[in-house]
Amino acid sequence: MPTIINSTIVMKEHALKANRRSFLKGGLAIGGMALLHPQKALAAGIDRQDENFKIVAGPYLQTNFGNSISILWITNKNASSWVEYGPSADALDQKAFGQSELGLKPAGRINCVTLNNLKPGATYHYKIASKEIKDFQPYKLTYGETLSGNTEQFTNTDTAKDSVSFVMLNDIHDRPKSIPHLLGLDQGAKRDFVFFNGDVFDYQTNEQQIIDHMLIPCTDSFAKNIPFVYVRGNHETRGKFARDFSSYFHHVGHTAFTLGPVRFVILDTGEDKEDTHPVYAGIVDFDAYRLEQAKWLEQEISSKAFKKAPFRIVMMHIPPRYSGNAHGAVHCTEVFEPLLNKGKVDLVLSGHTHRYKVHAPDKNGNHYPLIIGGGPREGTRTITRITATKKDINVSMLDDSGKEVGSYKVTKR
Ligand SMILES: [Fe+2]
Repeated sequence: MPTIINSTIVMKEHALKANRRSFLKGGLAIGGMALLHPQKALAAGIDRQDENFKIVAGPYLQTNFGNSISILWITNKNASSWVEYGPSADALDQKAFGQSELGLKPAGRINCVTLNNLKPGATYHYKIASKEIKDFQPYKLTYGETLSGNTEQFTNTDTAKDSVSFVMLNDIHDRPKSIPHLLGLDQGAKRDFVFFNGDVFDYQTNEQQIIDHMLIPCTDSFAKNIPFVYVRGNHETRGKFARDFSSYFHHVGHTAFTLGPVRFVILDTGEDKEDTHPVYAGIVDFDAYRLEQAKWLEQEISSKAFKKAPFRIVMMHIPPRYSGNAHGAVHCTEVFEPLLNKGKVDLVLSGHTHRYKVHAPDKNGNHYPLIIGGGPREGTRTITRITATKKDINVSMLDDSGKEVGSYKVTKR
């Protein structure tokens, strides 16, 4: 039997809330499923009593590095879930749950178990497990079947390593086949992570869309073993499910982390139209969110971690310039570009325009090279490959036929 160790298990607050929401709704569903339309129940992410218990997506890995990794998966019914892990497939001798809140372990469908205090550079083997909650009475909880995933493995990236290597995908726009296709062009390369730079979807409709158009293609291609990092584009903010969207990920907002010789800064550029545009019906607030991030970015560029890193790479869906005169793009130039210049960033990676392009530094505008990935149609899709050492950063952008359509080299100043 695996033993429970004193590993700190962290679940993102939003995921936890979603699990609680799902749990509460699931409780209601047990008593009153007949009152709910099945489609509505599915859209709301409520578990379905007429199906056998199953894992419907995952496991998929996400991390912001720093010797922790989050393992996520989704079951079709509420469950008690955990991860068994260890140094080899025969020794899954540690067990971790999602983070408890106010003394309660999660008991929902969207599972996020974060393994902390991992050893730098070490390979871990892991197996997800979920035990169905069949009936939840105040003083009697009845479990059903326990399901386990296959034993998988990942390597915990050593943040002190000499080089970092990753690929960027952007503007997939609900074309799930693009994910394996583009990643297939990079077969054999060893990457630390896959970065999704927004607009994986056209708009958010329901859970099934997230599963079918992103989680399954990612899990099938790489995400059981290699983590992804994800920031929203303007399209992830749209649709009736946009407010539930973040529950399916460990992190999708702005953030910063150090990996090898690079300080990574990720910005969530929000919507492209003004907040008062009729299509948003008065329920978005992106000017404030961009300003809040600009304040945060100002602190970030004066931080020790940012200043001492050999290189600084910023990733943001809407580019800080060269993407037209829509309000969001102009606001990004206004609030972010002066800080990117002041912070002397070495490279900015973006998407959004659907036209791949390498913009060299310009002393009257972007003082940094700006690489924009293409998509989403065949012939315009790109995979952008980035490798950074302590001496230089090499960028190579391939189109969907595998032809290099852009490259750039940044050398240490
Ligand atoms: Fe976009």
